[in-house]
Amino acid sequence: MKTSQWRLGMGDMQILPGARHRPPLKRPLWIIVLVSLVSIFVICAFLYPPQSSAACYIFSSRGCKAITDWLPPAPAREYTDAEIASRVVIREILSAPPIQSKNPKIAFMFLTPSALPFEKLWDKFFHGHEGRFSVYVHASKEKAIHLSRYFFNREIRSDPVIWGKISMVDAERRLLVNALQDPDNQHFVLLSESCVPLYTFDYIYDYLMNTNISYVDCFEDPGPHGNGRYSEHMLPEIEKKDFRKGAQWFTMKRQHAVIVMADSLYYSKFRDYCRPGLDGRNCIADEHYLPTFFNIIDPGGIANWSVTHVDWSERKWHPKLYKGQDITSELLKNITSVDVSVHVTSDEKRVVQKWPCLWNGIQRPCYLFARKFHPETLNNLLHHFANYTTN
Ligand SMILES: *[C@@H]1O[C@H](CO)[C@@H](O)[C@H](O)[C@H]1NC(C)=O
Ligand SMILES: *[C@@H]1O[C@H](CO)[C@@H](O)[C@H](O)[C@H]1NC(C)=O
Ligand SMILES: *[C@@H]1O[C@H](CO)[C@@H](O)[C@H](O)[C@H]1NC(C)=O
Ligand SMILES: *[C@@H]1O[C@H](CO)[C@@H](O)[C@H](O)[C@H]1NC(C)=O
Repeated sequence: MKTSQWRLGMGDMQILPGARHRPPLKRPLWIIVLVSLVSIFVICAFLYPPQSSAACYIFSSRGCKAITDWLPPAPAREYTDAEIASRVVIREILSAPPIQSKNPKIAFMFLTPSALPFEKLWDKFFHGHEGRFSVYVHASKEKAIHLSRYFFNREIRSDPVIWGKISMVDAERRLLVNALQDPDNQHFVLLSESCVPLYTFDYIYDYLMNTNISYVDCFEDPGPHGNGRYSEHMLPEIEKKDFRKGAQWFTMKRQHAVIVMADSLYYSKFRDYCRPGLDGRNCIADEHYLPTFFNIIDPGGIANWSVTHVDWSERKWHPKLYKGQDITSELLKNITSVDVSVHVTSDEKRVVQKWPCLWNGIQRPCYLFARKFHPETLNNLLHHFANYTTN
């Protein structure tokens, strides 16, 4: 507080005509009046922070910011023990330089009920690139007979997976931990049985390896299929403002895969409070856990879009399933030419969020893979794949 201004104020009062003709106030009363005036002024200044620059000037020579500086800072939430532990571990992993491998590989992790209908296509995709990739298959219903040597004996131990439940996230984590056992695996790609590659192996390898970003889909959806699925049981560690949504199909750099394995705090919140039908909400753990987790612990480390294309334009419960006759070079060209990522909120406003797909600061095609393809599309895809791999 500026005492000089107060003296000025009192001085003004003293020279008011008539003031000096009054009987002099007794000293205690004078002090009480002064203290009351100061108190009222200070309270008013705090309750109604001056907006105009003139008011700011009168209240403080340092401007309005100075007045808000007097207020005690909003108390930061006190972190829980588990949260502090989690943050320390995560910061340590993120700040350590990534392990350099002489033979960096991409881990292709297939999450499927049983057979992989596009093995023949993947076989073509992998052919000639031995040593730069590894394959992991989580077949949750039954192990199938493989047609491609790249898939032979690549199954990991699996458990049943129920759509929407935490068992889906458990299967993703099981794939990650198996793939992490090979120190050469530097980037981890989650794929389903209905996913197909859109480019040659070299293109995808360069795209994923020459960046330090994980392609985890993440956006804020205030609607019923987004924040409407949030549960306050997730407090205090997960606040509603941090809750995010995103497609399940991710790619992840090694550090992030390690962090996912190290996490039990945020995982347990989704295991316990995000599932279909809980408290009248249909929370789908695999659509919220990783987007929310990365939004809290490393928002700048994820791209916020998924490199796996899917067509939701029919606005049904499930995305468009491509059939044999849909597979044309025009369709493939359309999908591979998209270089802007689009998210639409699920409330009535249907707000469209768009941002360019930036790869190391350059706008590039968003999608490396696509789904969902019916098994009958295999031959058409093989035909087109041969075309775009020779180009
Ligand atoms: C990625 O690398 C660039 C430079 O190579 C650096 O500026 C940026 O901070 C890195 N980002 C992350 C998330 O590590
Ligand atoms: C992803 O979104 C977060 C939060 O909105 C932002 O901080 C981050 O920079 C975004 N990632 C990239 C790569 O732009
Ligand atoms: C490709 O994109 C164009 C322009 O958006 C559209 O008119 C056409 O129907 C699309 N074709 C296919 C096969 O999706
Ligand atoms: C091969 O690709 C080119 C360019 O995308 C396209 O014009 C052509 O029709 C394709 N050929 C076949 C046989 O699909």
